[in-house]
Amino acid sequence: MGTTITGMGYYVPPKVLTNFDLEKIVDTSDEWITTRTGIKERRIANDENVTQMAYIASLEAIRSARIQPEDIEIILLATLTPELRFPSTACLLQAKLGATKSYAFDISAACSGFIYGLELADAYIRSGKAKNILLVGVEKLSEIVDWQDRSTCVLFGDGAGAVVLSRGEGEILSSKMLSDGSLWEILYAPKCGYISMRGKELFKMAVRSMEDACRYVLETSGVSVEEVNLMIPHQANIRIMDALAEKLGIPKEKVYSNIHKYGNTSAASIPIALCEAYAEGKLKRGDLVMLTAMGGGLTWGAMLLKF
Ligand code: ACO
Repeated sequence: MGTTITGMGYYVPPKVLTNFDLEKIVDTSDEWITTRTGIKERRIANDENVTQMAYIASLEAIRSARIQPEDIEIILLATLTPELRFPSTACLLQAKLGATKSYAFDISAACSGFIYGLELADAYIRSGKAKNILLVGVEKLSEIVDWQDRSTCVLFGDGAGAVVLSRGEGEILSSKMLSDGSLWEILYAPKCGYISMRGKELFKMAVRSMEDACRYVLETSGVSVEEVNLMIPHQANIRIMDALAEKLGIPKEKVYSNIHKYGNTSAASIPIALCEAYAEGKLKRGDLVMLTAMGGGLTWGAMLLKF
């Protein structure tokens, strides 16, 4: 018995912004975006705020875990686009859910926020501090991209993914989380400004750092690359995912990607992908799944789990 994902849910706004729509906003092309990133379209929140998106994803996760909001003891919410400066979006979500027996706080680790949260939840559950934890990754990145900057606005999208973690048949076999704050200027957003990114540097860092973290979790858990059933990397760029898969020797069929539909949704990308992989039958109970992410901080990490 270990820390297990017992429920999952996600929400993406219905409004689709295609590459062709972007051609009308900035000097870009569907061909450039597709070949450089793998993205064809992304979802944009209009009226939905982050709490609402997190709420819809969470309700589904709680329902599928077959528990009630009052059964949740801790709410962890990873985001770089919080609703307010304070209180945390996790607290706003707690109130909306009526999860009256929980305490709630946000995690700030950019695109790595969801796997940082998984590591934390695993520690709480293994220590006996909590039985049921709600972990959410949610972003409204459309609010912090400069819609006149073609080098960034084509990359990002909005959405939310949530999981319930409890004791069960699954297990987190190994995890490794890292950060290097001296590299913060490669990717950041000022308090009241837009995302700033040095794309080429980030690309190389992403491949190298996620590869190292993945190798670590494979070695420490004694699992071979061949035994991994599915890898779900943070959905930042299809070329990053392809390069990572090649370096690790994982065939492309075992690397889950939905970036063509949603772009980079930062902390929401892995939980949304988990939900879709499960719904599509690409992820089954008992499978060995490797999650890996890298983002602003810089932060990165990997985790190997028995689903
Ligand atoms: N449409 C058309 N042309 C563009 C666009 C665009 N949307 N954006 C940039 N260009 C131009 C540039 O101006 C440049 O033109 P120039 O040569 O005349 O100066 C040219 O295309 C090449 O630009 P590069 O930045 O060299 O393009 P590159 O191949 O590096 O791709 C990209 C850019 C897609 C951002 C890539 O570097 C990347 O994916 N980096 C990783 C960053 C990332 O994923 N960030 C997300 C957050 S971090 C994370 O989640 C890991």
